[in-house]
Amino acid sequence: MHGGGPMEFLKGKRLVVFGCGYVGGALARAAAAAGATVEALTRNPATAAALEADGVGRVLVADLATDAWHGRVAPGPEFLVNCVSSGGGGIEGYRHSYLEGQRSILAWAERGGVPVGTFVYTSSTSVYAQDHGARVDEASPAEGGTPNGRVIRESELLLQAAAAACRRWFILRLAGIYGPGRHHLLDQLRSGAGELGGDGAHRLNLAHRDDIVAAIVRCLGAPGAVGNEVFNVADSGPATREEVVRWLAGRLGRPVPGFSGAATARRGGLPVPDRVIRNEKLQRTLGWRPAYPDFRSGFAAILGG
Ligand SMILES: NC(=O)c1ccc[n+]([C@@H]2O[C@H](COP(=O)([O-])OP(=O)(O)OC[C@H]3O[C@@H](n4cnc5c(N)ncnc54)[C@H](OP(=O)(O)O)[C@@H]3O)[C@@H](O)[C@H]2O)c1
Repeated sequence: MHGGGPMEFLKGKRLVVFGCGYVGGALARAAAAAGATVEALTRNPATAAALEADGVGRVLVADLATDAWHGRVAPGPEFLVNCVSSGGGGIEGYRHSYLEGQRSILAWAERGGVPVGTFVYTSSTSVYAQDHGARVDEASPAEGGTPNGRVIRESELLLQAAAAACRRWFILRLAGIYGPGRHHLLDQLRSGAGELGGDGAHRLNLAHRDDIVAAIVRCLGAPGAVGNEVFNVADSGPATREEVVRWLAGRLGRPVPGFSGAATARRGGLPVPDRVIRNEKLQRTLGWRPAYPDFRSGFAAILGG
């Protein structure tokens, strides 16, 4: 994680974080450490207690999709980040957390009378349906590759249409998140899996948690002339799943498992598409550079730590 420097502009400013899981929790902690006045919302009392213990000033326990919290968060924060993810519950869970959650935030913001300054929404590359080696940038069609992806796309559109809610918005379409404490392939290898689901020849598009937090911070602190933009957030070195697994197996001194070719359960039974998620727009527009430009650098840090 970066030191205070890149987050200096947050000092003394209000930041509201909705959904304090892996990414939102890291953002809330880093911003609080940098001197921001952070308000966070989670459904989970244990998460709330942990955030408060780590210096996040005010944590509300509520379901984002309801209006129960509307009267408890003052309108018009300079900065707002919606990092909510459904955490299961099938398509209904997705609609509840992503779509109804977004609707609830926008209704709160519009009713408050004072628009949010900068609104960042962490979306997903699952809004893209592209496969078969396609190179995908922000101008590519985003029609949703899965039912879940289509719900997330709907949540993006809600924000894009809500002119009165905020002065500017940014949508970050995140690739597969990994980092400390979140490394599914590594866990599978460590548990001695002899065969992995899916197709080893398909490319993995990854984004390290710290690079995602840095991208969010770049958006929050973007120059005034920049706004209402969509950015992909992925590292610069997409690799096939087989390459990643071979490298990890080598590092762990384990045999290299094969791939079954069958769809894995992780995407609702749908195969991981094969494409390259391009990150140049974020680099060009906001000067973001991944600290972990490929899986090797990210996993080396995880394994070394
Ligand atoms: N995981 C990936 O690889 C991936 C890939 C692309 C994009 N993304 C996107 O990246 C963002 C961050 O993902 P993440 O991995 O940090 O997610 P995460 O760890 O699952 O955290 C999501 C948080 O949202 C909270 N939440 C869910 N529904 C809620 C509700 N109705 N009301 C209040 N809180 C609610 C959860 O809290 P509870 O404790 O209450 O459940 C959880 O703390 C998400 O927008 C996700 O869609 C993720």
